[in-house]
Amino acid sequence: MISPETLKKQVDLASLSTMATPARARYFLAATTVEQALAGLELAATEQWPLLILGGGSNLVFCDDFQGLVLHMAIRGRRWTAVDEQGATLVLAAGENWHDAVLYAARAGYRGIENLALIPGTAGAAPVQNIGAYGMELADTLVSVKVWDRELQQERLLKPEDCQFGYRDSLFKQQPGRYLILEIRLRLSRRGEYRTGYGELAQWFGGVQPRSPLEVTEAVMALRRRKLPDPQQLPNAGSFFKNPVVSEAVWQGLRQEWPDMVAFPAEDEQVKLAAGWLIERCGWKGYKNQTVGVHHKQALVLVNHSGGTGKEVMALASRIREEVHGTFGVTLEVEPGIVPEHCGLPPL
Ligand code: EPU
Repeated sequence: MISPETLKKQVDLASLSTMATPARARYFLAATTVEQALAGLELAATEQWPLLILGGGSNLVFCDDFQGLVLHMAIRGRRWTAVDEQGATLVLAAGENWHDAVLYAARAGYRGIENLALIPGTAGAAPVQNIGAYGMELADTLVSVKVWDRELQQERLLKPEDCQFGYRDSLFKQQPGRYLILEIRLRLSRRGEYRTGYGELAQWFGGVQPRSPLEVTEAVMALRRRKLPDPQQLPNAGSFFKNPVVSEAVWQGLRQEWPDMVAFPAEDEQVKLAAGWLIERCGWKGYKNQTVGVHHKQALVLVNHSGGTGKEVMALASRIREEVHGTFGVTLEVEPGIVPEHCGLPPL
C-alpha cells in the first residue's frame, strides 16, 4: 500500500539529475513495477499534488524544490519478440538504461539505433524528446509506446503516428503529465543501409562501409567522447538549446551577413542553424564563472563546474539567449525541462 506516510520525503534530487543542481522532492517514490507507478499516480491525484515523472534525469534542470511527488520510473526489463530473418522487435521497459539497450542491440547484430549510443537517460524518456544524433532518431525505429493515459484512466498502445514526433518534440512534450510511458518497442533489422552520412561520422568511415552495427556504435561513442562532457565528471544536461529552425528566406539573409554560418537542411524546406556556432560566435565558448559555464569543446552544452544552482544555470542561459538574439535576430529555445516550470526563461 502506498500512502503519504510510506513515501520518502524531502529527498535530495541533485544526485538524480545529470546537471546536479540542488533541489529536494517533497515526496518521492521509485517505482519498480507498473502497479507501484500507478499507485503513485493515484495518490498524487487524490492528494492533488503536482507530479514529476523522472527517468534518468539527464534532460532536466532542477531550479528549486519540487512541492509534490517525484515518481522515479525504475521498472526494468528487456526482451526480443517477433524475431525473423529480417529483424526483431526489442521491447524495453521504461526504466531500462538507453545506452545499455543500444549496446545490447548492436552486439546482437541488429541495426536501427546504433547511432544513438551514449545518449544518457532511460528508454522511457527516449520518446519524450524523440532522441536523435548523427542523422538518426528514435522515431525511425519505434513501433509503439505503451502508456498509462491519466486522462482516460486506461493503458493504451500508441503508434508512432499518434506520437506527433518532430525534432526534439513529441506528444509527450506537448501534453506533459498526461501520459506515463511504461514500455517502448523498436523494430530493428539485420540488413539495410547504415546511416553514416552525418558530417563527423562520414569522415570517420571515409566512404568505407561499416562491418557491423557495433562498429558504428563504437565510432559514435568515440566521437561523442571527444567533445561532449561526461556528466559523471562534469555535470551537464546535454545540448541546452535546440538548434533553431528558420525559413529559407531568413537563412538567405543570415548567410549574406555571416557567410560561414553553419546550417543543415530541415523538414518542410526550412533550415536548421547550428546553435553551437551562434553561441560560439558570440564569444561564449569556454566561458566560466565561479560555478557554471559553457563547455570549451561544444558551446551548446552548459556545464556545472562546482556546485552551481539551477538559477545560476538559467541566468547564464538567459544572457546567452539575449546575446544570440541581439546579434542574429534568432531566438534560442531551451531544450531540457526546467523544474519547477516557473523557473523557465520568459519569452524574449
Ligand atoms: N558548432 C560550432 N561550435 C560549437 C558547436 C558546434 O561551430 O561549439 C558547429 C560545428 O560546425 C558543428 C555543428 O555546429 O559541425 C554541429 O555541431 P554538432 O555536430 O556537435 O551537433 P549539434 O547540432 O550541436 C546535435 C544534437 C546533439 C547530438 C549532435 C550529434 C541538438 C539540440 N543537439 O548537436 O544532441 O549529439 O547533434 O548528432 O539537436 C542532446 O540533445 O543533448 C545532444 C547532445
